[in-house]
Amino acid sequence: MRIGVLTAGGDAPGLNAAIRAIGVMALRDGHEVIGVANGWAGLAQEYAGVALQASQLSGVVGQGGTLLGTARFDLDHPAGGRERVLAAIGERLDALIAIGGDGTQRVSQWLAERGAPVIGVPKTLDNDLPGTDYCIGFDTAIAVVAESLDRLHTTAASHHRVMVVETMGRTTGWVAALGGLAGGADLILIPEFPMALSDVLEHVEQRRRAGLGYSIVVVAEGVDLSTLGGVETEKPTREGFGGGRLAARGVGQFVANRIEAGGDIEVRTTVLGHLQRGGSPTAHDRIWATRVGAGAYEAVVAGKFGTIPVVRDDHVTLVPLSDVAPGQRQVPREIYDLCAVFF
Ligand code: F6P
Repeated sequence: MRIGVLTAGGDAPGLNAAIRAIGVMALRDGHEVIGVANGWAGLAQEYAGVALQASQLSGVVGQGGTLLGTARFDLDHPAGGRERVLAAIGERLDALIAIGGDGTQRVSQWLAERGAPVIGVPKTLDNDLPGTDYCIGFDTAIAVVAESLDRLHTTAASHHRVMVVETMGRTTGWVAALGGLAGGADLILIPEFPMALSDVLEHVEQRRRAGLGYSIVVVAEGVDLSTLGGVETEKPTREGFGGGRLAARGVGQFVANRIEAGGDIEVRTTVLGHLQRGGSPTAHDRIWATRVGAGAYEAVVAGKFGTIPVVRDDHVTLVPLSDVAPGQRQVPREIYDLCAVFF
């Protein structure tokens, strides 16, 4: 078989571990593995698929990024991209494994519904795909947040400052909540549970009154500014194309300015940005990316197209793409309440 593999959307640590698992298993069984360059663009534009060799898969398990390259490529603007991908799969491949987040898996489902032999693999450091306990890249992202908070704690305490830390995560607060929990954040603001600005200011002040002159405030990039008394010119969206860069809204700096204006305290802002996406994956991401990658390869061999291997209760399970592609998984009340115990 000619099995194509692509990575689409934002990169994430662990992608290479998944590609390696698919490639090594397929080559072992005598199949051809076609690495499609730059996500959907490599099928919708000029065809960019090359046969992967075993040597290209060696030594990559601990490397961040994706050896295939990726792109945020909108197949619907201009229209016709999906049809070109469908045609390219039909002409060139016997199967395609598409590693990506919600946008990627919606395209995978669309293709599968039209008979294309497509299998998905869940990836997004935002961790917001429904139907799976695991998405490639999330564990590394929260490890970066936790380590960054550890570092910011010492300087915040020395200077008696408030440190505002903005995290990625788009319209959900998984990275902020679990990274913040692991890093001992004193307050966490996420889109799912809006907090009024007066409560933020009161919280910082309360800590001060209690003799704690510093605070670490974690803010998810997708928090709605209007809930904090700001003006939202564009509603935060999940889409990664065009003008949808949530970091450009500057929510962290907005919160920092308001805290500084609200009292006699120095505030500094750190936007963690792409540090959360770059570099080596954690062991957890390497292992689970390998397991879902292996699950995708086994699904191809079994001819179970239109599915995606997900992690549930510590097991890899094959489910229909329709379980994962639509909808969004939000931080549940129970997790946020646990974070709030430490506020
Ligand atoms: O979806 C993953 C993500 O890292 C988001 O958390 C973030 O808003 C976005 O991608 C950044 O995308 P880009 O790398 O295109 O700026």
